[in-house]
Amino acid sequence: MPEPRPRVWVSQPLFEDQIERLREYFDVAATPEVRAYSEDEIAAALAPLDGALVTLNERIGPGQIDAAPRLRAIANVGVGYNNLDIEALASAGIVATNTPDVLTETTADFGFALLMATARRITESERWLREGRWQQWSFQNMLGADLHGSTLGILGMGRIGQGIARRASGFDMRVLYHNRSRLPAHTERALQAHYVGFEELLASADHLMLVLPYSGQTHHIIDAAALARMKPAATLVNIARGGIVDEAALAIALATGELAAAGLDVFEEEPAVCAELLALRNVVLTPHIASASFTTRRAMVALAVDNLVAALGRGPNAGSPPNPIRA
Ligand code: DGY
Repeated sequence: MPEPRPRVWVSQPLFEDQIERLREYFDVAATPEVRAYSEDEIAAALAPLDGALVTLNERIGPGQIDAAPRLRAIANVGVGYNNLDIEALASAGIVATNTPDVLTETTADFGFALLMATARRITESERWLREGRWQQWSFQNMLGADLHGSTLGILGMGRIGQGIARRASGFDMRVLYHNRSRLPAHTERALQAHYVGFEELLASADHLMLVLPYSGQTHHIIDAAALARMKPAATLVNIARGGIVDEAALAIALATGELAAAGLDVFEEEPAVCAELLALRNVVLTPHIASASFTTRRAMVALAVDNLVAALGRGPNAGSPPNPIRA
């Protein structure tokens, strides 16, 4: 008797041709519509499976894997993986993978777009124009902050942070960064980036870009005290994870003029956005789209498929998925 084909689940609609690649090796249950799952629904979906391709929407921990004895691989479509309890997966012998590299440049492009939109008040002025409020050109209308010649602070200097730094040099910005570990001197030189302590980064940045991974250690690292150390004219941009910023404290800082403006692509309780932020004019809000270019989203799915196929012992890299996440 031939061995039964492994069974895998694709939790959200992705690209059909990539799902076909999975069908070469597996019996695939693909989800036709974007949907939100309860914790129990995820547990029920995983219970009979060998593997799954999931997105940041699906939170997977002990409660989701305990009743899934066959489960051997979870391929996350995304570089961030705070939706997965990596320790729990590892101790159950389940390989988890993510999709680094392929989204670095697109995400860094977007970080810059969000920074420019925020500092130069692009969405705010478009809203104002569409509301019919433009009666006459005026000299002091919609004054914003320059990027060129300013100091950019980057918190988190992994691949995406370095992509931001490369773009900043084209804008003649002085780049400061803070990271868990300092970059080698030759990389700092190539990026023209200077390492500083966290406090100095906060105090010196005209624009602060958050690009660090989210964890228990970085939860609300940008809180009321951190915001108070920033320059009142500064811009804050978050393209990492919402939980890094205390959104209630940020809304107060933006409303009271303690901080000039913020650009947020990520939120603590996505897709919900806190009402205080929605009410402010000096914040640009986007729905977690930093990696959302056609090319990059396709590349992310293709890489997640490569990871799942290999993690389940099939295809050219059988047994060696390209991007295992180490516990
Ligand atoms: C990631 O990859 O972590 C992004 O946030 C989703 O594209």
